[in-house]
Amino acid sequence: MATLKEKRTCGQRCEDFGRFIWNSENGTFMGRTPEKWVYISLYYVAFYVVMTGLFSLAVWVLMYTLNPYTPDYQDRLKSPGVMVWPDTYGEEDVTISYNTSDKASWMGMSKILHEFLEPYNDTKQLHCNPYDCTMGKYFIQKSFSAPNHTKWACAFNQSMLGACSGIEDPTFGYNCTMPCVIIKMNRIIDFLPTNSSSAPPYVNCTILSGQENVDKIEYFPTNGTMDPSYFPYYGKLAQPTYVNPLVAVRFSLVGKKQAKVQCRVVSEKISYENIHDPYEGKVIFYLKAVK
Ligand SMILES: *[C@@H]1O[C@H](CO)[C@@H](O)[C@H](O)[C@H]1NC(C)=O
Ligand SMILES: *[C@@H]1O[C@H](CO)[C@@H](O)[C@H](O)[C@H]1NC(C)=O
Ligand SMILES: *[C@@H]1O[C@H](CO)[C@@H](O)[C@H](O)[C@H]1NC(C)=O
Ligand SMILES: *[C@@H]1O[C@H](CO)[C@@H](O)[C@H](O)[C@H]1NC(C)=O
Ligand SMILES: *[C@@H]1O[C@H](CO)[C@@H](O)[C@H](O)[C@H]1NC(C)=O
Ligand SMILES: *[C@@H]1O[C@H](CO)[C@@H](O)[C@H](O)[C@H]1NC(C)=O
Ligand SMILES: *[C@@H]1O[C@H](CO)[C@@H](O)[C@H](O)[C@H]1NC(C)=O
Ligand SMILES: *[C@@H]1O[C@H](CO)[C@@H](O)[C@H](O)[C@H]1NC(C)=O
Repeated sequence: MATLKEKRTCGQRCEDFGRFIWNSENGTFMGRTPEKWVYISLYYVAFYVVMTGLFSLAVWVLMYTLNPYTPDYQDRLKSPGVMVWPDTYGEEDVTISYNTSDKASWMGMSKILHEFLEPYNDTKQLHCNPYDCTMGKYFIQKSFSAPNHTKWACAFNQSMLGACSGIEDPTFGYNCTMPCVIIKMNRIIDFLPTNSSSAPPYVNCTILSGQENVDKIEYFPTNGTMDPSYFPYYGKLAQPTYVNPLVAVRFSLVGKKQAKVQCRVVSEKISYENIHDPYEGKVIFYLKAVK
């Protein structure tokens, strides 16, 4: 009893510790004989070598099976989203509102469109996308026949937007009451909008409210068609020079000069009634011109 309760002095504890480090009686170092230390070290070395090997093998297998040209995890998105330019987003909706008598106001709108169309510059497209595409059918490419192991992409130039190209009228109609908007559909890798290329997707804009304020709707290119030769898209690495086909829409505003518009890309495989994604297959915006 007494020995158990007996408090050990500091010197004794140090002595115990010293014996633990090197016990000359049993010849152990930190509780193990040098021979046992060698064995246990070898064991751990072998263990970590095997673990590292397994890990490297797993990484290598993963890298080997990844195809750099297509993402392995495409998001659930099956139907593309649609956007409108000028992309002037208000609280919730897109509101394209401008003042025809305030130069700064309409210049702001045309500036957005000029910047947006920069990649579509005629000379730039001629240079980047020299391939002579066959319009009217899907441009399926099995091989990488373009320079630097890439695939060709079809040119889409500003001129194809006619009166809304910003070339003849650099204001895009914003200095008066005939504003142009540009509709773009997001890219989806390997997506074909229709089962056959005979009925290509086209943009159809309808006036949801203020019908009496819109006299005329014009589409550029003709009929608002997105030519099938721009599909499918093969990805950024395979088609570095790809540009989305665009459709410009010109509204002739009259009367109160305001309307709520829905522009939809119409196609067999593009849905537009997804309540969870209001931008799927269509875009809704307010158009308003003031004086
Ligand atoms: C449009 O701009 C003109 C000139 O700056 C200004 O007088 C007018 O009040 C503006 N109209 C509206 C509705 O803001
Ligand atoms: C296209 O680019 C060329 C050269 O950069 C430029 O001179 C021309 O004005 C541009 N065209 C348009 C419509 O912006
Ligand atoms: C723009 O594209 C159209 C259609 O591909 C082509 O006919 C036209 O020559 C192009 N314009 C320029 C300036 O490259
Ligand atoms: C191919 O790649 C090289 C090196 O990145 C580049 O210098 C060359 O301009 C590329 N050729 C084409 C046609 O893009
Ligand atoms: C708008 O600009 C175009 C091109 O610069 C010009 O032809 C037209 O007369 C202008 N319209 C008004 C109302 O200023
Ligand atoms: C096109 O394909 C969709 C599904 O991929 C199918 O529901 C539809 O019936 C097809 N339409 C035609 C005309 O083949
Ligand atoms: C565009 O949509 C409207 C409303 O859904 C429809 O009445 C019209 O026929 C469509 N136009 C075309 C060319 O499909
Ligand atoms: C535009 O649509 C009309 C009517 O559907 C058709 O007759 C015409 O050929 C189309 N034009 C083009 C360039 O697709």
